[in-house]
Amino acid sequence: MKVLIVGGGGREHALAWKLKLSSAVDRLFCAPGNAGTEEPADNVKIAANDIPALRSFAKENAVDLTVVGPDDPLAAGIVDAFEADGLRIFGPNKSAARLESSKIYAKQLMQRRGIPTADAGTFDDIDAARRFCERAQFPLVVKADGLALGKGVIIASTRDDAVRAIDAMMTQRAFKEAGRRIVIEEFLRGTECSLHALVSGSEFVMLASARDHKRAFDGDLGPNTGGMGAVSPADTWTPELQTHFGTRVMRPLLDELATEGVRFRGLLFPGLMITPTGAQVLEFNCRFGDPETQVILPRLRSDLLEFLEATIDGRLAEIEPQWDQRVAVTVVLASAGYPDKYESGKEISGLAEAGALPDVHVFHAGTRRQNGRIVTAGGRVLAVTACADDAAAARGKAYAAVDCISFEGQQFRRDIALPTVATNLAAD
Ligand code: AMP
Ligand code: GLY
Repeated sequence: MKVLIVGGGGREHALAWKLKLSSAVDRLFCAPGNAGTEEPADNVKIAANDIPALRSFAKENAVDLTVVGPDDPLAAGIVDAFEADGLRIFGPNKSAARLESSKIYAKQLMQRRGIPTADAGTFDDIDAARRFCERAQFPLVVKADGLALGKGVIIASTRDDAVRAIDAMMTQRAFKEAGRRIVIEEFLRGTECSLHALVSGSEFVMLASARDHKRAFDGDLGPNTGGMGAVSPADTWTPELQTHFGTRVMRPLLDELATEGVRFRGLLFPGLMITPTGAQVLEFNCRFGDPETQVILPRLRSDLLEFLEATIDGRLAEIEPQWDQRVAVTVVLASAGYPDKYESGKEISGLAEAGALPDVHVFHAGTRRQNGRIVTAGGRVLAVTACADDAAAARGKAYAAVDCISFEGQQFRRDIALPTVATNLAAD
């Protein structure tokens, strides 16, 4: 079977590595890929959001299955475009992908069905949004409705902060059309947890839990990033929460989508805040998480391809994933300055030594090959994953591998998977 993976980050390298292990996969392509995906796949020079070029490539090369990594092409309708041409593709169509591409759509759906989520108002009028802040409690959270590369969420500690965020989104259009409408919501205190579920209409199968570390610096300080590291399973996730999540979140969500005639087939990734009074949904993502995929897939013993196929064909009831019971930890190495401006083209050394350590995977994100050397080519450069019997041992192995690697200006957190971080319970 020929499989095409769309995207070029750490998530896509992890997907490529895992799919290559499937005996049914003969040939793997990655568009555009990175220096790491060159090994399991053939890189194809097509951007992840160039839907017409991807569709032509899939047709001309008789690709049997396309797997979409990032959110943008899903929101732009890549699945609809492929299916219109009879091409098989894993991911939600454009209307289902609105769960991620419109926070207002997702919030209103949750409110209609009583799915636990922060109290919120939605605004398309700037004066109404400003007036709301006059009588609000702080901190509160201002969110652009649309996709904004993970930057469209601002936690406002004061009324001035909130008004500045509203102006930046609605007047200055800092996130272009994505900020034309906004959500303003209650600030939740707790510990975050990332869940992944394969969804096919009314059926779903949960994958292992994970915890991401979103802030740039140790101690959960600094700006929000795409994710600086992750651990699976999440230490705060319990069987009780899982049951509650199935009945209070997944069931009503899938019922509501069915009522609306929206067909979701793909990977749903709800981001949760575990608060002292239970789990609340922060957002829905419609694709695998990055760096969550880099800790979930190394723990998956089953053949990923079978799961993707069962999702497309509506056979999820027939399958049950098997998990490695060990803990996986991934540490992201980023370029100096990330998530703001950063430089690229820095030579990376020590990759082979790190990758040769037992139970370690070095997943590439922003890397490329230049004159036979591997150099940095993005904000997040590598995700170094290790598995061990407990989180402390997995951390130890992951950081031992990180210590083998170096490039100019590399920055990473030293506290990934420590139990005391990634909580904002004390924040004010
Ligand atoms: P989102 O894209 O909605 O997940 O927001 C990005 C990040 O902002 C989340 O992972 C949280 O760290 C933070 N965040 C979003 N909504 C809230 C909220 N209501 N309360 C506290 N933190 C939040
Ligand atoms: N790590 C968070 C995300 O993929 O959205």
